[in-house]
Amino acid sequence: MESTKTGISLYIDAAPKTGSVLEDVLHGLSASPKSLPPRLFYDQEGSRLFDAICELEEYYPTRTEIGIMQARIEEIAEELGPQVLLVEYGSGSSLKTEILLQRLPAMAGYVPIDISRKHLLSSARRIARRHPDLAIFPVTADYTQRIPGLPDLLARHRPVVYFPGSTIGNFQPPRAEAFLRRAAELVGPGGGMLIGVDLRKDRARLEAAYDDASGVTAAFNLNMLRHVNREVGPVFDLEAFRHRAVWNAEASRIEMHLVSVRDQVIDLEGQEFRLAEGEAIVTEHSYKYTLDGFEEMAARAGFETRHTWTDPDSLFSVHYLVADQ
Ligand code: AVJ
Repeated sequence: MESTKTGISLYIDAAPKTGSVLEDVLHGLSASPKSLPPRLFYDQEGSRLFDAICELEEYYPTRTEIGIMQARIEEIAEELGPQVLLVEYGSGSSLKTEILLQRLPAMAGYVPIDISRKHLLSSARRIARRHPDLAIFPVTADYTQRIPGLPDLLARHRPVVYFPGSTIGNFQPPRAEAFLRRAAELVGPGGGMLIGVDLRKDRARLEAAYDDASGVTAAFNLNMLRHVNREVGPVFDLEAFRHRAVWNAEASRIEMHLVSVRDQVIDLEGQEFRLAEGEAIVTEHSYKYTLDGFEEMAARAGFETRHTWTDPDSLFSVHYLVADQ
């Protein structure tokens, strides 16, 4: 019989050679409309500001998702069943994972996947201390890409991908569907996905969640420019931009913008990028779904919805999907 080791058993390092910040900025400023990718939010200060966002009165998603997980954990554990190999995409949100690790029966193991090696290994060690009987297989990788070694590990167990936080909302819908399809292929028939999804709601509530009264989200958005300046030199004048969050009902997404407060020219690598007064740089799209819309997309991607849980106000949903035979 194969004996399962507990603790940190195997470490897969498939860290991608990420494109540089400079490439990201040159590419984004050349696009129309101008944009900068959301990954540039998360330097050390950006990660701290994001944690502060999650505590804000106006930012309902984190608190609501945790509330659903806590209130429904018995049903969730029952649906997922024993011997699950829990594969977590972007394993930052340890609080939600803890809820699962404490209650899932006789797990086969835990596979946290994160792009940041430092962050990944420190949280894997903490989880190993708290759960001495758990087999942990940390993976440094970009979970949107193919990860060598992962399909072999998953083939030996019944994997369930955990993808909380409504991070799926950052993909434009065709990409979200393609992403789900790849996850369904990865977990294989009978494998699952437990995913958190932010739902459509009234404009006022959405816009407040992304433009809070205390200005934390504004600081988070503007910090992206400070991050770029630190990486590539003094490119952006932070005084020349302001934060804006708008609900685009037609596209069903919140758009985060950095709006130029004046006509300006940005010099970078001998190139000049003109920004007119009022012109925006898009920093993030956060798509919001309806329950039916999300379940239909999951079905097209090869996932049957086994169970959907929501909070009493239908702000947020958690779905357990199982890959089709
Ligand atoms: C981490 C992508 C789920 O879209 O709500 C929070 C990021 N941006 N406030 C989201 C975010 C501004 C967040 N996600």
